[in-house]
Amino acid sequence: MKKAIIFYQSKTGTTKKYAQEISAYLQAKQINTSSVPVGEYKENLLQDIDYILMGCWTKGLMVIFQKPDEIWSDFAKKIPVPEHTKLALFATYKIRTGSMFKNMAKHFNPAPNLSLPNLKSRNGKLSDKDKIILDEFVEN
Ligand SMILES: Cc1cc2nc3c(=O)[nH]c(=O)nc-3n(C[C@H](O)[C@H](O)[C@H](O)COP(=O)(O)O)c2cc1C
Repeated sequence: MKKAIIFYQSKTGTTKKYAQEISAYLQAKQINTSSVPVGEYKENLLQDIDYILMGCWTKGLMVIFQKPDEIWSDFAKKIPVPEHTKLALFATYKIRTGSMFKNMAKHFNPAPNLSLPNLKSRNGKLSDKDKIILDEFVEN
């Protein structure tokens, strides 16, 4: 059985809801998935992991300068993404995500050499488009 972990940072619950919806969708596809707030990271969560999904709420001036919250960025800098693990990003927002995904991706070390799949939602619900992105992400 494939294994996925979802790390999220949420202030008012929307991103947590989105993480839970992603988790339920992957579980229904027979992927052993858990969703964990970034503050509850433990090294052993990454054991034998096939997929990591990392999500945050969008912080900016509504239409410009979107970036993840520092708590999330600090976490992304520290997390040792295992070499053969696939990585995807998700974010919730109100108006636009703008530079959000670019600013999320740049914190990983080493920087991912391919653009990462990204999912976004205003209300924390999984859309049909998200499902297609997730289907492709976990293919093979
Ligand atoms: C300080 C602050 C800045 C924000 N900046 C943006 C922004 O630039 N663009 C946007 O679309 N939403 C922005 N939002 C809205 C949040 O990203 C959105 O409500 C998000 O879903 C909240 O997630 P949470 O419920 O998991 O905390 C901002 C919210 C706050 C509190």
